[in-house]
Amino acid sequence: MAGNRTFTMIKPDAVKAGHIGAILAKINEAGFRIVAMKLTKLSEEKAGAFYDVHRERPFFGELVEFMSSGPIVAAILEKDNAVEDFRTLIGATNPADAAEGTIRALYAKSVGENAVHGSDSDENAMIESNFHFSEVERF
Ligand code: CMP
Repeated sequence: MAGNRTFTMIKPDAVKAGHIGAILAKINEAGFRIVAMKLTKLSEEKAGAFYDVHRERPFFGELVEFMSSGPIVAAILEKDNAVEDFRTLIGATNPADAAEGTIRALYAKSVGENAVHGSDSDENAMIESNFHFSEVERF
């Protein structure tokens, strides 16, 4: 059975461009409930640990540099079928391939600076949520 929570980050490009409010509005309109949320900044070490699965990829250094370049919004979101429905809402990783009206089509600049992160499985949603939030920060 599909889980009902996913994890997201509004990335430094979208925060810098002033899109936090617009992106949160899309998230609310799509029926997600915010379980936990914080404005924070990742160190290079924390960004590297979060994206550890990509450590051997050629873009890893660029990804860590970008994700630690400015503040992000981290959040846990709740809805039936959360992981899949949120990935539909944000669109393809590369904004050039993202469907019209999706968050990445509207706000992402490139495959590297792509406005938002969304967990790709229920298991990763739990791991990523635990990375950023303790139990008492969830409501
Ligand atoms: P995200 O969904 O946060 O998960 C991994 C991230 O790696 C992805 O979004 C992109 O921002 C980034 N990424 C994936 N492919 C590339 C690429 N070819 N070049 C730069 N960054 C990439």
